Amino acid sequence: MKEKLAAIINAAVSAASEAVDEKQIEDIRVKYLGKKGEITALLKNMGSLAPEERPKMGQLVNEAKEQVESAINEYRKKLKAKAIELKLKAEAVDITLPEKEVCAGGLHPLSIVTNDLIDIFQSMGFDVLDGPEVETDYYNFECLNVPADHPARDMQDTFYLADKILLRTQTSAAQIRTMENRKPPIRIICPGRVFRADEVDATHSPVFHQLEGLVVDKGITMCDLMGVLEQFAREIYGDDVKVRFRPSFFPFTEPSVEVDVSCTECGGKGCRVCKGEGWIEILGAGMVHPNVLRCCGIDPDVYTGFAFGIGIDRITTTRYKISDIRLLFENDKRFLEQF
Ligand code: PHE
Repeated sequence: MKEKLAAIINAAVSAASEAVDEKQIEDIRVKYLGKKGEITALLKNMGSLAPEERPKMGQLVNEAKEQVESAINEYRKKLKAKAIELKLKAEAVDITLPEKEVCAGGLHPLSIVTNDLIDIFQSMGFDVLDGPEVETDYYNFECLNVPADHPARDMQDTFYLADKILLRTQTSAAQIRTMENRKPPIRIICPGRVFRADEVDATHSPVFHQLEGLVVDKGITMCDLMGVLEQFAREIYGDDVKVRFRPSFFPFTEPSVEVDVSCTECGGKGCRVCKGEGWIEILGAGMVHPNVLRCCGIDPDVYTGFAFGIGIDRITTTRYKISDIRLLFENDKRFLEQF
């Protein structure tokens, strides 16, 4: 009997020493000391022994029970301590690490310029609108007096997403959407991203930004167009800037002009920035073509209007003397932090 007890004690203690978590320890306790445990069974068995053997055996079994109990308690304590130690290690904070740099974000130069442009036109009474970047052929070309076979389409190499669905090549689509939804007088601007399948170089990017403007009312003339755009140029480049209107062609305006300002670098003498011209082109504009008004249900015999499309990227690069348009899109922190 003594040997049997010793074997049980051995087995229990070595099992407890190998337990790796609380559950295993508890299973061992149940196996030996639980209601149906091996040691408990021996105690229950006392009745079947001869009366003179009982005290001796009782003592032995009780001692075995105590031994196993204290071994289990000891290993349970060790396991707990180990768990705490591991947890502390895992959650350790290295107080010698330098703190994380907190840096406040700033506005991208394109956003700064767009906001300034919006301020200028809002102060002249323009509403600001948004248009979709994914456009239909109808809004981007067709209703802007550029039918499918019009050569002007070639000037805007285009990203088509599906048949007659494309990434807008110009914010001018906003003219149509506006005139369909509002009755004159209309005075709106629509800034946003536009897309053309251009080769990337210092002055071209397949993604760039325009700000479309549209005014429609009774009695609007070319003088209104010139007055608004001259005022805009002065606000952006200062009172000394010279503004030049050059005849041009856009299918949706007639007559059409391109607007140049005197070079911000050399003041008009001619330099590298203006390629020796003395002038920098910043926008296209013109009187809204009667076909476009008609397409939107506005009677061209009653109403006239002008529209303009400003290249926001060009305004940004000239204002900040940025030599390469790619810098605007590379997201280099060293560049962006300068604004
Ligand atoms: N949409 C023209 C372009 O992208 C610019 C423009 C807008 C011209 C409005 C006239 C009137 O080149």
